[in-house]
Amino acid sequence: MKPKIYITRKLPDIVVTRLTEVCEVKMWDKEEEPVPREILEKEIQDVDGLYCLLTESIDKPLLNRGTRLKVVSNMAVGYNNIDVAAATEKGILVTNTPGVLTETTADLTFALLMATARRLVEASDYLRAGDWKTWSPMQLTGQDIYGATLGIFGLGRIGEALAKRARGFDMKILYHNRSRKLEAEEQLDIQYADKERLLRESDFICVLMPFTHETKNYIGAAELSLMKQTAVLVNTARGGIVDEEALYHALKNREIWGAGIDVFEEEPVSTEHPLLSLPNVVALPHIGSASKNTRLKMSLLAAENLLQGLQGETPKNIVN
Ligand code: DGY
Repeated sequence: MKPKIYITRKLPDIVVTRLTEVCEVKMWDKEEEPVPREILEKEIQDVDGLYCLLTESIDKPLLNRGTRLKVVSNMAVGYNNIDVAAATEKGILVTNTPGVLTETTADLTFALLMATARRLVEASDYLRAGDWKTWSPMQLTGQDIYGATLGIFGLGRIGEALAKRARGFDMKILYHNRSRKLEAEEQLDIQYADKERLLRESDFICVLMPFTHETKNYIGAAELSLMKQTAVLVNTARGGIVDEEALYHALKNREIWGAGIDVFEEEPVSTEHPLLSLPNVVALPHIGSASKNTRLKMSLLAAENLLQGLQGETPKNIVN
């Protein structure tokens, strides 16, 4: 008998076809709407595998309903939406999709850094609104990127890929990580810095660490107050790592210069969110990995992880 799986969002046909070769597949067939919790609660009772996205909270009460559940495959590298400890306790494998999205997410991170530094969104809006009356010396001036100091919080794969891009801009690169990465320091010509030094010395600070209990509000009022008044903060990791209220005040009072934000504590973010009222914020709807190729690779990798787990193998990207 084929194992049964539930997929929480419409996936590309090629992925569904692959899964159907091995499994009995049921899928929430909508692209732009997450599966309602009550449907997920019902569906999980009857499946061996769950293919989910970061939009679903796979918490203990939900896992408790999955009495025959063996594998949860998340189509994301981050898995803070899953209670991994609860899954482990129940013998459920959890997998993610690292690697395939590294370069695409590093591209977006650097693009967001540049867009914020050079005020691209504000400048485009200015032009479209008909406000462009003449060229003028101080009009829409931003911050230089070339030769500036970049501070990276979290030197995983994406952090290293970002450092490679920054080297092309002759940036001085500092990083802070749980552990030092001596090989990367040598290969990428980057320097380890303690948290305070990184905050004080960087012109651009990129947040690329995983979201855990330890990193919740890792950047708060105290950290923001150490940053340069000309600094730009970029977050393409998870919203909860930066205290949004503190960030709002720091930006509003011009304690720091700007922020590029791809991720929010609550997603989708409300259009009434105070951060969106600020001209020195470039805000994006969590599109770090959103290239056509990469999203396809992620969805296929999540499928392979799920199949490996269901077929009794150790999935390539197991996290527990
Ligand atoms: C992830 O994979 O964790 C990103 O946030 C979405 O690609």
